[in-house]
Amino acid sequence: MARPWLHLNNSRSMAMACAKESNLHRVLLPEKVRNSRVLILGGTGRVGGSTAIALSKLCPDLRIVVGGRNKEKGAARVAELGKNSEFTEVDIEERASLEATLRDVDLVVHSAGPFQQAEKCTVLEAAIQTKTAYMDVCDDTSYAFRAKSYMSKALAANIPAITTGGIYPGVSNGAIMAAELVRAARSESKGEPERLSYPHVELVLRFSYYTAGTGGAGPTILATSFLLLGEEVVAYSKGEKITVKPYSGMRNIDFGKGIGKKDVYLLNLPEVRSAHEILGVPTVSARFGTAPFYWNWGMVAMTNLLPVEFLRDRSKVQKLVELFDPVVRAVDEIAGERVSMRVDLECSDGRQTLALFSHRRLSVSVGAAAAAFAIAILEGSTQAGVWFPEEPEGIAIEAREALLKRAAEGTISFIMNKPPWMVETDPKELGLGIYL
Ligand SMILES: NC(=O)c1ccc[n+]([C@@H]2O[C@H](COP(=O)([O-])OP(=O)(O)OC[C@H]3O[C@@H](n4cnc5c(N)ncnc54)[C@H](OP(=O)(O)O)[C@@H]3O)[C@@H](O)[C@H]2O)c1
Repeated sequence: MARPWLHLNNSRSMAMACAKESNLHRVLLPEKVRNSRVLILGGTGRVGGSTAIALSKLCPDLRIVVGGRNKEKGAARVAELGKNSEFTEVDIEERASLEATLRDVDLVVHSAGPFQQAEKCTVLEAAIQTKTAYMDVCDDTSYAFRAKSYMSKALAANIPAITTGGIYPGVSNGAIMAAELVRAARSESKGEPERLSYPHVELVLRFSYYTAGTGGAGPTILATSFLLLGEEVVAYSKGEKITVKPYSGMRNIDFGKGIGKKDVYLLNLPEVRSAHEILGVPTVSARFGTAPFYWNWGMVAMTNLLPVEFLRDRSKVQKLVELFDPVVRAVDEIAGERVSMRVDLECSDGRQTLALFSHRRLSVSVGAAAAAFAIAILEGSTQAGVWFPEEPEGIAIEAREALLKRAAEGTISFIMNKPPWMVETDPKELGLGIYL
């Protein structure tokens, strides 16, 4: 049996003491959860592995259980993590063994993607069944909203669950960037409440993401990218839902120091819908771009040349990934793995603010961000139910700053709630193109 979930809001104040180790600030968790068992599904992969490493450095007393199907990869990961870690063989498609594994843990971090075209939320269902706290690093709109539909079951089981944690989405929409920009804009204009559906000040929110190559991520990220090319892009313009072609609507965005200006293209990302519905922002879109520039051209070509049915078929896409993977890895060696997220908020009263987060290594920062969400759940910042990071019940507003500090370890740029000229290398661009 999993231990009953402990809500520790009252002990949050005693939660943090910092000591420098391995460039990460240690977190002193409340005593009741200090030795929790945290299962990381996909812990043999890049995102899960990076999360396990960050968690074990930040909170060395946690017991980390690496979950996956491959014993050799599991043994290698555990050797890297050292004491307080173990491997467990588990396939997330096998419900009985998944539940048996969850019965013995306090928190499960689901990073065994891809989430695109997955038909069920098997891990969340098993977490509810076994009363285990849950978070995922899902980056798919359908999956994220399907996870949300388990709200009443999670409430009945009294477990906290976060969907779309991680760096993007996660930090980009919830803890740091969009939610805090919107909150600051509203409180500075008319003291608007957190979630007003139709604020009298019109807001435009644009997410722009850049990752060099695959960002040092595993093969799953390639599958994720190709599957996203098979999804129509949902965006919102003045409250209206619109759909557009994937990898269209290119914009050249300035990501500032260490990254520069990059082309980004529309993609169907879950933070667009959640920011629209939860933060009540009428105009929202999200774009993504990669390097070298010819990968972007390749993505445009795939969108134009491959039939949608092909791009929506996980097994066909998997074969395509196997074909492309060696070339992509070779180019990754040259491209590096810099990552940058820029969120722009424009208000109809003329106010413009942005948030920017850039890191030299996506594979490190994604782990730090996912670990920061896991720690927030352990600290009791998440209420029972299934939440997006931008919901105050998901990450309590007063817990956002601590989450942000942990997630932003080692960034080359981290700017929050500043006017765009602080980032732009070409000030003439200010004020242009406030719509999609
Ligand atoms: N939210 C964010 O910030 C963010 C950022 C980047 C990526 N992502 C998402 O994170 C996911 C993982 O990406 P990655 O780069 O880490 O991929 P990866 O290196 O290929 O790792 C995937 C992991 O999932 C495990 N796995 C796959 N199917 C499984 C199954 N049926 N049962 C158990 N384990 C299974 C694999 O383990 P075995 O094959 O060894 O069993 C592997 O460890 C992707 O979906 C990606 O889109 C999220």
